[in-house]
Amino acid sequence: MTNNEDKLKKIISHAKEYGFVFQSSEIYDGLSAVYDYAQNGVELKRNIREQWWKAMVQMNENIVGIDSAIFMHPTIWKASGHVDAFNDPMIDNKDSKKRYRADVLVEEYLAKIEAKIDKEVEKAKGRFGESFDEEQFLNTNARVLEYKEKMSAISKRLFGSLEKNDLADVKSLIEELEIACPISGSKNWTEVKQFNLMFATQIGSTAEGASEIYLRPETAQGIFVNYLNVQKTGRMKIPFGIAQTGKAFRNEIVARQFIFRMREFEQMEMQFFVRPGEEMKWYEYWKAERMKWHLSLGMEAKNYRFHDHEKLAHYANAAADIEFNFPMGFKELEGIHSRTDFDLKAHEEYTGKKLRYFDPELNESYVPYVVETSIGLDRMFLAVMSTAYNEEKLEDGSERVVLNLPPALAPYKVAVLPLMKKDGLPEKAREIMADLQEDFMCQYEEKDAIGKRYRRQDAIGTPFCITIDHESLTDNSVTIRYRDSMKQERIAVADLKQLIVGKLKQKM
Ligand code: GAP
Repeated sequence: MTNNEDKLKKIISHAKEYGFVFQSSEIYDGLSAVYDYAQNGVELKRNIREQWWKAMVQMNENIVGIDSAIFMHPTIWKASGHVDAFNDPMIDNKDSKKRYRADVLVEEYLAKIEAKIDKEVEKAKGRFGESFDEEQFLNTNARVLEYKEKMSAISKRLFGSLEKNDLADVKSLIEELEIACPISGSKNWTEVKQFNLMFATQIGSTAEGASEIYLRPETAQGIFVNYLNVQKTGRMKIPFGIAQTGKAFRNEIVARQFIFRMREFEQMEMQFFVRPGEEMKWYEYWKAERMKWHLSLGMEAKNYRFHDHEKLAHYANAAADIEFNFPMGFKELEGIHSRTDFDLKAHEEYTGKKLRYFDPELNESYVPYVVETSIGLDRMFLAVMSTAYNEEKLEDGSERVVLNLPPALAPYKVAVLPLMKKDGLPEKAREIMADLQEDFMCQYEEKDAIGKRYRRQDAIGTPFCITIDHESLTDNSVTIRYRDSMKQERIAVADLKQLIVGKLKQKM
């Protein structure tokens, strides 16, 4: 693969060609930053969601799930701070008329400096060979230190100005760094302005009777406002968690990079309610647990890192991202936030209702503190796809595109393929298919040569192909072909299910 941008383009076109992700409203020329999941994509997405649900709800006795509505009382968003503070600083280029997030322009500038550091490391690796000590080099090389110092000064100034809402200084920074519009190439910028990301709509049938409500920008508030209902009806004892998956909506200014940043997307969130003062312990616990989950799926550790936040959201006293090495570089995949008692206290204030927990061990009531884990399902989908997508050169000189998906995530687990369309092979294959279908997502295919059918299954990531031939009719055995190794073995039909169940538990 030539470069990362190229890889993203290949994933986008593969996702379209093989029925994973389509641009929304494509026949109307599309709707920007909105996507539809197709027949294979919907299965992959469902499997990722189920793995998350299993790890969070099924495997933890003290975590339960809910499914709250997208529409909520509008005052909730006032209390949560989203009406006043869920803003992005935006800036327009006067020549191209393109709108950018001011902080993203500066962050892209910082990424360029980081790329220069990487280049220095690569050069030094070549010079020093085996004896190269990367850590020592990063801590002592004069040029690297200069780059690092520059990066630190720029981020300090950016975050400082954003914190103080000093938007004029953010503009000055962009000008001083001589950042140009990638489209017009000009440095002719407007002032920086705050832009609220929530979508508003009307509830009620007449203009006079209607009132403005928002499409939820996070699923978390549905959990907060139901916290006491769940605690009481579920007789939950602190520490306990409430999980939910569902759609969230943000009017993103910078909407590109495929399903990485969408205007309608899906979150998988869990709020963990703890004793005040114990939140940092649980924050560390959930950071470690969530990273374990990613690795348990067979994702590679080298593609992950933590990024501790310098600039905290309005509700947090500590926050970290789990970043993934997407084709566009390391970017946020999941957030772990220590949200203090900010949300519950705010809902108490706005409703006048007590949201306290009586702790029988301490014999006192308090507003619990909250540690949140929040991952974008679509981003996880992209992380999985970009790890799984591989172009392979085979021994016979041919090439294949294969999705090396963890078997548990693959849209279809098994393809059932009669070698020929005659001699009773399709009937036998149908019989096997009907039995396997009870337990696994299966696909039946009898068209085209067997090699071509294998390639189609490789491209959608089906881990097992079962071929039915003439021998199958006499000895009730089939050939199973493994996607990754392409190895084949003969197996009795009676043993198929057990073998597949065992393999589905294996990692990528
Ligand atoms: N409740 C906390 C919260 O919403 P966030 O960091 O704004 O925190 C959490 O979002 C996760 O949701 C992100 O880590 C990301 O995976 C996903 N996400 C956020 N905005 C997104 C967007 N526009 N498109 C796709 N995923 C998004």
